[in-house]
Amino acid sequence: MTTTKLVTLAVVSIFATGMAAGVAGADPQLERGRKLYGLCTQCHGEQGLGDQRFLAPAIAGLELWYVQRELEYFRSGVRGTHFDDIAGMRMRPMALTLRSQEDVAAVAAYVASMPPTKPPSTLSGGNAAKGQVFYDQVCKTCHGPDGAGIQAQNGPDINHGSDWYQKKQIENFKAGVRGANPKDVTGMLMRPMAMTLVDEQAILDVIAYINTLSPTAAQQAK
Ligand code: HEC
Ligand code: HEC
Repeated sequence: MTTTKLVTLAVVSIFATGMAAGVAGADPQLERGRKLYGLCTQCHGEQGLGDQRFLAPAIAGLELWYVQRELEYFRSGVRGTHFDDIAGMRMRPMALTLRSQEDVAAVAAYVASMPPTKPPSTLSGGNAAKGQVFYDQVCKTCHGPDGAGIQAQNGPDINHGSDWYQKKQIENFKAGVRGANPKDVTGMLMRPMAMTLVDEQAILDVIAYINTLSPTAAQQAK
């Protein structure tokens, strides 16, 4: 190898190291969150798109406040302790590996920073037009006209969720598997709304409509 080539290599590697350090230095919390997310990839995937085989939903790009709240709920047993909550009971021990509120905040920031991506739909048999009427009458107030969520109403973004997971959550809310714990003050807001979906067809209809929604430009730009 010539001297020039060696010098070039050295310069390139110093530059590369400097860049990596620069990224970590720029946002140490995000860097910590990225490391903590290593465990989560097993079920939620590198890109946070979820994996139905593990009952793990898409979480990429969910609102920071929502991710943080749910992780705290899992940690404190507000969510994921009901005996019928098989999926929640899988997630709870994972949340418990996060040792401090700082760790929760860091991994939540990392999850929220991932680009929100719409997972492919898996359900069929829903009537999106009927679902829209229902959505606009009931769900819009808290989840927003585009499903982008409304923090002031505690309603999370639901326009890039896994449809099979959303169906299960609505069933869980109806059955009191989620949202019935007296400490679940936000789940309690959702529970009576799930009750308004009287049967499986109504659930399929509203989710068929939610499936037509996508993350807005504002959500993508975050
Ligand atoms: C063993 C598999 C597994 C691992 C590992 C795992 N999760 Fe989960 N996670 C799940 C399952 C299953 C659910 C769905 C729970 C339910 O249906 O209520 C879930 C739900 C969630 C939710 C709630 C999503 C929502 O829309 O309300 C968040 C947030 C989450 N996980 C974040 C994480 C983070 C962060 C990590 C890493 C610290 C992690 N998960 C590791 C299986 C896992
Ligand atoms: C009064 C406000 C309100 C209305 C109206 C409402 N929701 Fe919700 N919804 C919430 C809140 C708050 C949560 C989060 C609960 C928590 O903190 O765990 C939620 C959670 C959800 C979830 C679970 C999201 C996740 O990632 O786990 C789905 C799905 C959902 N709502 C669908 C609907 C549908 C469909 C309707 C209309 C039938 C509706 N919601 C109406 C407040 C509302």
